[in-house]
Amino acid sequence: MCGIVGFVGHKLDAKDVVLSGLTKLEYRGYDSAGISLFNSKFRSFDIYKDFGRVQKLKDLTKDTLKSHIGIGHTRWATHGKVTKDNAHPHYSQSKRFIIVHNGVIENHDELKSQYLRDSLFYSETDTEVIAQLIESFSDTLSVENAILTTLKLLEGSYALLVIDTQMPDTIYAAKNKSPLVLGISDDGVTVASDLMALVGFSSKYVALADHTFIVCEADSVKLYNLNHEILPLNYSEIDLDESFSELGEYQHYMLKEIYEQPSVVSRIVQHYLVDENKMISDEILNDIKASDRIYVLAAGTSMHAGFVGKYILEELAGLPVEVHIASEFAYHTPLLTHKPFFIMISQSGETADLRACLMKTKKLKYKTLTITNVKTSTLARESNYYLELFAGPEIAVASTKAYVAQIGVLSILGYRLSNASFDLKEALTKVALSIEDFLEHQDVSSLVHKIITKRNCFYIGRTLDYYTSLEAALKLKEISYIQTEGFAAGELKHGTIALIEEGTPVIALISNPEISNNTRSNLNEVVARGATTIKISLSNTSHKDDDIILKDVHPLLTPMVMVVPTQLFAYYAALERGLDIDKPRNLAKSVTVE
Ligand code: AGP
Repeated sequence: MCGIVGFVGHKLDAKDVVLSGLTKLEYRGYDSAGISLFNSKFRSFDIYKDFGRVQKLKDLTKDTLKSHIGIGHTRWATHGKVTKDNAHPHYSQSKRFIIVHNGVIENHDELKSQYLRDSLFYSETDTEVIAQLIESFSDTLSVENAILTTLKLLEGSYALLVIDTQMPDTIYAAKNKSPLVLGISDDGVTVASDLMALVGFSSKYVALADHTFIVCEADSVKLYNLNHEILPLNYSEIDLDESFSELGEYQHYMLKEIYEQPSVVSRIVQHYLVDENKMISDEILNDIKASDRIYVLAAGTSMHAGFVGKYILEELAGLPVEVHIASEFAYHTPLLTHKPFFIMISQSGETADLRACLMKTKKLKYKTLTITNVKTSTLARESNYYLELFAGPEIAVASTKAYVAQIGVLSILGYRLSNASFDLKEALTKVALSIEDFLEHQDVSSLVHKIITKRNCFYIGRTLDYYTSLEAALKLKEISYIQTEGFAAGELKHGTIALIEEGTPVIALISNPEISNNTRSNLNEVVARGATTIKISLSNTSHKDDDIILKDVHPLLTPMVMVVPTQLFAYYAALERGLDIDKPRNLAKSVTVE
C-alpha cells in the first residue's frame, strides 16, 4: 500500500535516497507518487507529484539541485480519485507545512467542521486535514506542540512525515497503527514505512511504536511520546539481503518467486527441523497445548493457508481449529471458548485487519502467535510469539512462495504438537523435490490457452484440494482479471453448475486417492455441459490422460505441490493477456488500511 520515505543528511542527495526507497517500495502497490525537495537556490521547498509510476517522478526531478532533505510518497488511493491534486505531498494552506501520510484519518470530516471551517482545501484527501490543523495550531504553539496537538485529535491510522518550511533542516515524523521505521548512518537519517527502503542507506534502525513522535536532523534524532516526554531509542542492526530483491534471469518477480519455492521449503526444514537451537519453542507448544481451541485469523492467501493449517493441526494434533476472516473477526468476534489460542498468519505482518484483531485479543489478554515472513513487522513485534517463514522478501503482489512456506511452517507446528511418527523432514524434502521436478519438466504455458480468452473459470477439488482451489482461483483473478471461483467439487451441482456453458474452463485438482473418483464424476458432470477441462493429479491418483501429474507427497502436504501449476496458470494467463504481472491493478502488497 502507500509508501513513505524521508531523508535528512549531509553528503547524499535526498532525492536519490527518497527515490531509491520509493522504487524499492513500488511492489507494495500504488497509483501516484510525489516528492518534496529543498531548493537551495531559492531556499524553499518544491513539490513534484503526479499519478502514475515512480519513473515519472524520476523524469520530473531529473534536473533538480542537490538537496540535503526530502520527503516522498507513493499513494494507494483511499480518499479521493487518482489525480495529481490528491497525490502527496500536500501543503498546508499558507504552504508553510508539507506533509506525506500513510493510513486513514477516520474523523477527518468532523475535524474539518470543528476546526477548519474557513480553510481552503486543495485535494479530496483526508491527509490535508492534518497539514491544515498543524498550521492552524502553529499560530499560537511551537511546531512540535502544534504537531502533537494535532496528533491527539486524529482518529485512525497514520505514519506521517512533516516539513516546516521555516525549519529546513528537520523532518518531523509520527506513527499510529501504520508502520514506520527510522534508520541512521553516518550519512544521515532516513524514515520510511518499510525496512526495505532503508537498505543501502542505514546500518541501524528502530521500528517505531504507536503514538510516538520523532524529530530528525542530520546528526540527531529525538523520540517522544505524545506527551512530549523523551523516550529511549533502541537500535537494531539491519540484516536484510538485497539480492533477494533482484530479478536476476527472470522476467517477473512472480515467476522468480514460484521457482524459489523448493529452496524455501528446504530452508524451513533446515531451520525448524535440523537446527536444534531454532526449533519451535516449548513455550509456544505448551501454551497451545493448554488451550482448548485454536483460532486462526488471516486474510486472502494467508487465510487459504490457514484452512490447510486447520486440516493439518486437527489431523495431526487433534486440536479443534477455527479459521476466521480477519476483517470480520475484528468487528464481529464469535463466541470464544474458555482457553482460546490465536494464530495470525500474515506474509507481510502489517495487514491492518489483522492488527485490529490483535488489538482485540490483546485486550482480552489471550496469547497470540504470528506466522510471518517479516520478523521485524508490527504483528511479529506485538504478538506474544512469532515464527518466521524464511521465504525471503516476496515482491510480486500475488503471494506464491509465502503461501507454500506458511503451510510448511503450520505442518511443523502441527507435527510438534502431535505424537506423529512419520519423518516430517523427509516428507517436506519430498515436497521440495516434487515441486522442483514439476518446474523442471512440465510446461503449462500451452494449457493456458484453454483459459485466457474466457469470461470465467472454475477450480474444483475436495477436502485439501478444495482449499487449494480457493487459492488457485484468487491467484488467477488477481493477476489475469478472469472471473474465477474455487469450488468444493461436490457442491457445484447444487446451483453453480448453471454457469457452465460451452467452453467454460473447469480445472480439477485431484490429489486424494480416497475421493478422486468422486471429483472425476463431478468433472464428468461439467464435461456433459460443454466445459473445457484441465486435470491436475498426483502419481497415485493419476489417469494417463491427466494434463499435469505431480510426484506423490505426504497426503497432508499435497496443497504445497498442487498449488504450483495453478500459480503458473495465473502467471502465463496474465503474460498472454499483456498485464502488469507483479503489480496488478487496484491491489497492494501489504494492505495497511482496514
Ligand atoms: C495474495 O496474493 C494477496 N495479494 C492477498 O490476498 C494477501 O494474501 C492478503 O492481503 C493478506 O496479506 P498478508 O499475508 O500480508 O497479511
